[in-house]
Amino acid sequence: MASVSLKNIHKSFGKIEVIKDVSLEIESGEFVVFVGPSGCGKSTLLRLICGLEEITSGVLEIGNENVTSLSPRQRGIAMVFQSYALYPHMTVYKNMAFGLKTAGEDKSKIDQKIRDAAKVLQLDQLLNRRPAELSGGQRQRVAIGRAIVREPRVFLFDEPLSNLDASLRIQMRIEISRLHESLDCTTIYVTHDQVEAMTLADKIVVLSEGKVEQVGTPMSLYNEPANLFVAKFIGAPAMNLIQAHTKAPLEDNEPRYINAEISGKSVRLPCLSYNYKDNQNLTVGIRPEHINILGEDQKTQILEEDLQLPVVIDLVERLGDVSYLYIHMEDGTPVVVTVSGQSKLNIDKKINLHIPATKIHLFNESGERIM
Ligand SMILES: Nc1ncnc2c1ncn2[C@@H]1O[C@H](COP(=O)(O)OP(=O)(O)O)[C@@H](O)[C@H]1O
Ligand SMILES: [Mg+2]
Repeated sequence: MASVSLKNIHKSFGKIEVIKDVSLEIESGEFVVFVGPSGCGKSTLLRLICGLEEITSGVLEIGNENVTSLSPRQRGIAMVFQSYALYPHMTVYKNMAFGLKTAGEDKSKIDQKIRDAAKVLQLDQLLNRRPAELSGGQRQRVAIGRAIVREPRVFLFDEPLSNLDASLRIQMRIEISRLHESLDCTTIYVTHDQVEAMTLADKIVVLSEGKVEQVGTPMSLYNEPANLFVAKFIGAPAMNLIQAHTKAPLEDNEPRYINAEISGKSVRLPCLSYNYKDNQNLTVGIRPEHINILGEDQKTQILEEDLQLPVVIDLVERLGDVSYLYIHMEDGTPVVVTVSGQSKLNIDKKINLHIPATKIHLFNESGERIM
């Protein structure tokens, strides 16, 4: 188990810069998830850490040792890929033993390690099977087992669950969480799926176009996204983003508010201190689960600074426990609202949205969060 430190890491393929000045501190034993859309550089970053790609510039330390120019073998890392990369002609046992054998380990030690790992991963009954005789989830467990027996200082996972069907993915997600609890090994896990990131991570690193957008605990990213990219990426359904335009601040304007217009309606946006001028663009963010429908929930308390917007329901999606209302505002902006699954609201109904001021996120013209 070891810490990992990335200092100003750059990676270019020819003239194309794919990783742009990434600096990160990963603590020993931490479970860190790299999340971002396809093509943002997640796999490349992982391959740089394990040594499958050469770092163009910057320094990589594992356990406070500079490993930037060490070979993958010397780094003490194990990687689990999306394609399990098992040897088809070997049994589960031999697949797990292979790396240790080539490293010249003692036969009885290898056996003990495989039996221990097989127990943790519930593979004990399957050690004599070949990969073709296993389900997708079992193959993935063998790939993880092969990594465990190497007793790496750091585990790397590259989208290990992407090839599994939805219910198996949820099951394996829980198993990986449990595994991390019991092994307590530093883990870096790559996924494009924000739900996996939220549920597995101690710390999430959101990546976009080779850059780090934000680093934080799952809940800090959910509660305080640093910019529009993170706001849109974390949370499902995604945060609603509504355009607003500032209006000239009044002389006696309370400094706690920004005067603005949303969809032709005057509003006061809660904000502690923000110097703004007339007619600046702002984005108001509000999560679907934080919008109330007036008249639906008797307990809703409406405060003076809250926003109210009249809208019409376009579509209702019923999932059972919750329903999603698809709505458009007068200026055409689409809005999604999560309501109770028991709600009787239906298409074409005119309703009033209630947006609690305390739940609003504000972003400036360049998409950065306004405090
Ligand atoms: N060996 C390579 N040569 C050239 N470009 C590459 C190579 N590997 C990855 N890339 C490019 O780097 C970018 C990031 O790729 P990748 O790290 O695989 O993204 P992700 O894993 O987030 O989907 C992509 O634009 C991809 O085309
Ligand atoms: Mg990838």
